[in-house]
Amino acid sequence: MHPLQDVQKPGVEGTKTIQVRVNGQIYKREVPIRMLLVDFLREELGLTGTHVGCSVEGRCGACTIVLNGNNVKSCLLLAVQADGADILTVEGLGEPDNLHPIQEGFWEKHGLQCGYCTPGMMMSVYNLLKVNPHPSVAEIREALVGNICRCTGYEHIIEAVQYAADRIAAMPKEERDKLFSY
Ligand code: FES
Ligand code: FES
Repeated sequence: MHPLQDVQKPGVEGTKTIQVRVNGQIYKREVPIRMLLVDFLREELGLTGTHVGCSVEGRCGACTIVLNGNNVKSCLLLAVQADGADILTVEGLGEPDNLHPIQEGFWEKHGLQCGYCTPGMMMSVYNLLKVNPHPSVAEIREALVGNICRCTGYEHIIEAVQYAADRIAAMPKEERDKLFSY
């Protein structure tokens, strides 16, 4: 049973105006009160980098984002519950010509195959490296326990995180701080 089944059942109707800051930009929208946050991001804001991989049951982690500094699975929240929140999605991580070291790590170390899990993985890695700049392999595995990958066997993902950690550690402090402002 989906954790939000009671709220989502027919009969619970209506809309509510919410305001969120996503990737540094403010959005104010009227949304159905039953709309999931992941659907709001993808359909209302067009931020389709946040994926849906498990019929929105909280099991795969493809929909992981950063919300008010914490990793959340955006299929387990309603958009209205995010009212007032500060959100980072994969689109806010870096630019095509200026990748975040986490993105660079996945690129350099072949941390993806189909790429379906990758945005969620990277958002979990973001919060890991924010608080633990030098994670052990065991700590990386633990941080990614909620993110399922059906392609890679995880070894290249571990290497991608280690690559990113090394790149970030070599940067001046001001640059490092800018990478983790959420
Ligand atoms: S789509 Fe959210 S955990 Fe799978
Ligand atoms: S790269 Fe395909 S699911 Fe992870």
